Amino acid sequence: REHCPTPLMAQPSKRPYLSTTSLNTHPMSYQGAFPFFRLPSEVGRFSLDSHRCYHGDSRKLRYYRPPSSVQKGASPGWDLMDGYENRYVRRDENEKEGLLHILTWVKENKGLLGGSGSRQLDRDFVTWRGHLTKVLCTPYESQEGWLLAVSLFKGTLYISERETEVARKKREERTTIQEKLMYSGYKFESHLCADSPDGQPSPSAVVNTNEAFCSVLFARLSTHSFLISGEVDCCDPLATNSNPPSCYVELKSSAQIRNPHQQRSFNRYKLLKWWCQSFLLGIPLIVAGFRNPEGKVVSLQDYRTSDIPHLIRTDQHSWDPAVCMNFCDAFLSFVKNVVTRDDPGVVYLFSWEPGSDVTFSVHTDPTYHILPAWYVEAMSL
Ligand code: A3P
Ligand code: MG
Ligand code: MG
Repeated sequence: REHCPTPLMAQPSKRPYLSTTSLNTHPMSYQGAFPFFRLPSEVGRFSLDSHRCYHGDSRKLRYYRPPSSVQKGASPGWDLMDGYENRYVRRDENEKEGLLHILTWVKENKGLLGGSGSRQLDRDFVTWRGHLTKVLCTPYESQEGWLLAVSLFKGTLYISERETEVARKKREERTTIQEKLMYSGYKFESHLCADSPDGQPSPSAVVNTNEAFCSVLFARLSTHSFLISGEVDCCDPLATNSNPPSCYVELKSSAQIRNPHQQRSFNRYKLLKWWCQSFLLGIPLIVAGFRNPEGKVVSLQDYRTSDIPHLIRTDQHSWDPAVCMNFCDAFLSFVKNVVTRDDPGVVYLFSWEPGSDVTFSVHTDPTYHILPAWYVEAMSL
């Protein structure tokens, strides 16, 4: 069950000695063989409804139902801006949920988690897939830094993102064009997803971004075991392998590619993020819709996640999946070395800005806490 998307390149490891003060993020430092990564296995599911309320079931799972009238390569012509003004309910992004929904799932499924003795949860790390996607992309990221808060509690490290000041400002100053682009990503999903395996998409329905279906999985990267959860767009009822996560499909919209420069930029930035996001959960298929400047979908394209490393390999100044995974491995080792106080009241804040090393600071102020009292109590029983 080992997953190795690139041929092993026999190169001596140039990785620096693991320091406990800072971590280098330069791609050169992480070249080498692809590390051991076990295909994630699903251990649970939960859904968030139209009011963002948690349900420990699959009620918000949708099914991949591309209209039979639309052939791959043909132009579906869907208007992704339709409904932006009057059929759009937006999640409140000022509401910081942190690990809330994962912790709720863990609390309700303690029995499944194989803990023993002082370690209730037999995993090294608990986190959202989106947080690890940011870690994976770090060696190639030149624009946006990140803040990851970590607490060690009963032998498990919890990683929760904190919004940076720059990200908050950017979010608050989003232009209407940017808001419409965000909407278009969700609208694209509504053209391809149905509520039941034999249903039909209802693209004129209200888009409500509170709703989500999340898978909870066990995964392993080299010496690190984790419990990871991520939002899943849909499940393909016709998938050759019907076991999750193999039946899951990630949907993406992107600007139409019209020249070699745009193709290079797509390969360099978009495919990097798409690959990291889907690879981490073991999602094998990404269906992309390319939109023209008017916001209409002009073509659909399937990308097998495992093909992406091959598609980008011939590009100059490309990215290397092994670098992403080796960096993630090193970051998790760094976190294990640094975060030694087993106390939910102590938060280690790891911070990174492009061009710098990862550094950290230690906080005990309750405004930094990432594990709520109800969780600490439930896991202390
Ligand atoms: P696209 O991916 O088609 O752009 P996801 O692709 O992860 O399932 O997310 C669904 C949609 O949410 C995205 O559609 C995009 O519109 C929006 N979205 C997700 N992450 C975002 C981010 N970091 N910034 C802005 N929009 C985001
Ligand atoms: Mg999604
Ligand atoms: Mg998507």
